[in-house]
Amino acid sequence: MQPANAKEITKLQELTYELKVEAAMTRNVATISPTATMAEFREVLRANRISGTPVVENGKMVGIVSIEDLIKALAAGELNAMVGEKMTSKPATLYADEPLMQAVSKFSQLRFGRFPVINRQGELIGMITQGDIMRAMLKRLEVDYREEEIHRYRASHIFEDILADDVALVFGYRVAARDFARAGEASSGLKKTLGRLGIHPQIIRRVAVATYEAEINVVVYTDGGEIVAEVRPDRIRIEVMDKGPGIPDIEQAMQPGFSTAPDWVRELGFGAGMGLPNIKSCADEMDLKSTVGVGTHLTIIIYCDGLQKTGSGS
Ligand SMILES: Nc1ncnc2c1ncn2[C@@H]1O[C@H](COP(=O)(O)OP(=O)(O)O)[C@@H](O)[C@H]1O
Ligand SMILES: [Mg+2]
Repeated sequence: MQPANAKEITKLQELTYELKVEAAMTRNVATISPTATMAEFREVLRANRISGTPVVENGKMVGIVSIEDLIKALAAGELNAMVGEKMTSKPATLYADEPLMQAVSKFSQLRFGRFPVINRQGELIGMITQGDIMRAMLKRLEVDYREEEIHRYRASHIFEDILADDVALVFGYRVAARDFARAGEASSGLKKTLGRLGIHPQIIRRVAVATYEAEINVVVYTDGGEIVAEVRPDRIRIEVMDKGPGIPDIEQAMQPGFSTAPDWVRELGFGAGMGLPNIKSCADEMDLKSTVGVGTHLTIIIYCDGLQKTGSGS
């Protein structure tokens, strides 16, 4: 439960940085002039069912007057006093372009019910309450969630359209020799792409393992190469091509446990001699062609119709 909570808080915190005060505030704020009387102020509160208003003079906010000020004025028999005399001048405010985070911390520091929101010219443009903040965050969460849903839906349906037209999607990746820092990037890129296309997770896992092993071999044993994946509704074909040195004895290379990996490669965690055998067990079809001095061309086919691997490869 802890991790899930922590994650939610992180998302909400992120939103308070992303959203601006103006996205949460209410506009159309009732205001009053400093030259109005407290009696007039009472009418403004009644008419708008609010408990306080900013005091505005020539568009600039000069103070804030609340129901407490009205009660004091009533008790002192000063209903004809001017708002300007009874208001709190220089009230705490928020800028419209500040992140909501700023508002959240001001609410917890100052414990006011609401803050006037001004622009950088000092003009009042809205009011914000803690309820406004909650509403804005929930709305944004809802929007994000719906967008994600639509995205997922579209992704899988794009592929269904292609299915109808029998078009293939082709994705290409370069694999650099001996670049261990980036080894695995091609296969994880392909994995993400297949996920977006709505391919079944079981199929994706097999493609990812087979492609990863082939990619590592290109990194470790060759002068570099490329991976091309052709995705069709009924099958995924992955071709891994490198620029040599080639495999002298393919049958031997295919043996589980056979490896020519030097010690330093083994120390990096590669070289168990299980790469090619793993590729074979993931693939529905596997074809390995190699010419010494020229290069190696590996073709892996995985069918999407039957989710479980059916054939033993050929
Ligand atoms: N693309 C390639 N080019 C040259 N040699 C390769 C290639 N792929 C595999 N090999 C050779 O085949 C052997 C077995 O590969 P693999 O089954 O992946 O095991 P490992 O990578 O752990 O050695 C490797 O040790 C290497 O000698
Ligand atoms: Mg290997």
